[in-house]
Amino acid sequence: MTSALVEFEDVTRTHSSGGTQVHALQGVDLRVDYGELVAVMGPSGSGKTNLLNLAGALDTPTSGRVVVAGVDLSTASPDERARLRRRSIGLVFQDYNLVSSLTVRENVALPLELDDVAPRQASAQATALLARLGLADRGSEFPDRLSGGQRQRVAIARSVIGTRSLILADEPTGALDSVLGEEVIELLRAQIGPECGGILVTHDPRYAAWADRTVFLKDGRIVAGTAPLVKVESLTGPISDQASGAAS
Ligand SMILES: Nc1ncnc2c1ncn2[C@@H]1O[C@H](COP(=O)(O)OP(=O)(O)O)[C@@H](O)[C@H]1O
Ligand SMILES: [Mg+2]
Repeated sequence: MTSALVEFEDVTRTHSSGGTQVHALQGVDLRVDYGELVAVMGPSGSGKTNLLNLAGALDTPTSGRVVVAGVDLSTASPDERARLRRRSIGLVFQDYNLVSSLTVRENVALPLELDDVAPRQASAQATALLARLGLADRGSEFPDRLSGGQRQRVAIARSVIGTRSLILADEPTGALDSVLGEEVIELLRAQIGPECGGILVTHDPRYAAWADRTVFLKDGRIVAGTAPLVKVESLTGPISDQASGAAS
């Protein structure tokens, strides 16, 4: 049995800049279930980051409905949206966004501290999580002492600490070579489970192949890959085959 973690219903996001209207997203329907990792691909400017910002409660739609973990973001108060971001959503960016003046452990513990968890408890949870992600010996270092791959692993640790149910990653491998990139995506994939789902924006079909399915954006519209409640194997099959180079 699956249940919806993220639901976009006929979502449009329009920006006005200098008198003109930019339709960043138009009529987008998307559902991500608990336990599912969905990859989003599409050319630059196709609306991928707009989509993640909406799913991450950082933005609200111009029209349509976005529901995350049962919270309707179109009608939620700013406080409710902030709480959702603090407790339930983890974000991973291309450039890691670690705080350079905090240690690795402090960076990972930060979301809990911001949510008023006692520092000692937050630190203990961060230590345990770092150990689970193969970074046990790195907790006391500062981020600039780590490699790019390690920094992105720390960013993933920070995005999943606590009881986060939605992980959103915007080209998290952008600054990494392909071996480290693959490691980071594998780690991201491993965080998805019965109580957690995710959206991965990527340019690279090899990384998208780690997702359960891929949706394609073009000019703000989903042009292939998914619709709510549609059985998707037939749509994603050829894509993953292509991505992994598997013979058919
Ligand atoms: N705050 C904004 N104001 C005006 N236009 C924006 C804004 N954010 C994004 N856009 C436009 O929306 C479109 C989609 O942007 P984005 O979601 O960043 O694309 P992607 O992440 O796929 O490269 C682009 O044409 C971009 O210029
Ligand atoms: Mg983008």
